[in-house]
Amino acid sequence: MISLPEKKLNPAGNSNPVGIFDSGVGGLTVAKKIFELLPYENVVYFGDTARYPYGPRSQKIIRKFSSQDTNFLLSRRVKFIVIACNTASALALEKLKRTYHTPMIGVVEPGASAAVKATRNGKIGVIGTLGTIHSHAYPKAIRRLDPRLEVYSLPCPLFVALAEEGYMDQEVTRLIASEYLHPLIRNGIDTLVLGCTHYPLLKKVISRTMGSKVRLIDSAEETAKEVRKFLEKHRLLRKIRKKPVRRFYVSDIPDRFIEVGERFLKGKIGKVKRIDIDRY
Ligand code: DGL
Repeated sequence: MISLPEKKLNPAGNSNPVGIFDSGVGGLTVAKKIFELLPYENVVYFGDTARYPYGPRSQKIIRKFSSQDTNFLLSRRVKFIVIACNTASALALEKLKRTYHTPMIGVVEPGASAAVKATRNGKIGVIGTLGTIHSHAYPKAIRRLDPRLEVYSLPCPLFVALAEEGYMDQEVTRLIASEYLHPLIRNGIDTLVLGCTHYPLLKKVISRTMGSKVRLIDSAEETAKEVRKFLEKHRLLRKIRKKPVRRFYVSDIPDRFIEVGERFLKGKIGKVKRIDIDRY
């Protein structure tokens, strides 16, 4: 799943950070899981807040933005790159893998593979941004693993705004969830992939709407597990078991990122630095 010729890995660079990028604050749901599973890893997080959202944009633009995001992380000497954004994973990961030698992972394959393992009746639902759903990246990844499975996909763009506004369990969220998810309930899915950085924050409402029999797959969590597996397998884990350095960068003023981000992380972010992404 993660391609890299062995010789390109730098065993001496274990203290080098893990790089994570996203269109903005949403990727912190992935960062949070990585912090939990890899508590000693140094991390550099980049949120492209100046060009957020990625969800409705074309593949050409997403690929350009993702290359610049990658160039920035590489300038911070990262040893591994996590594309936390589902839209960028769906539309740009393959291209990035062909262009760069640094090992990288997106969130689509880990989520797809967890869904394939979880389903009992062979009917899987996927929700995400317009870009993610129109790319068909999840259904393709799922069917590569098991062509017999039925996949039903739906864009749920309003969930992103609701999560950022902190509307996790309000009446409006419940109404929108029932409006959006009704077709998936009718299709009889037993597994639903939360194919967007923001959706894990709405897990409670989504789960209540879908019913207790539908298993929710959190791509963020599955991706963090894959990152740990890869770093372990390639002996790239940081050797020192000391408090790590976690740095956060954004491409616009950091205020809103800090405010929303602390809610997403359920913890303090600390200093956030603004960079000019057009230079990369
Ligand atoms: N990070 C995006 C994703 O996971 C959601 C927000 C956006 O549209 O940029 O697809």
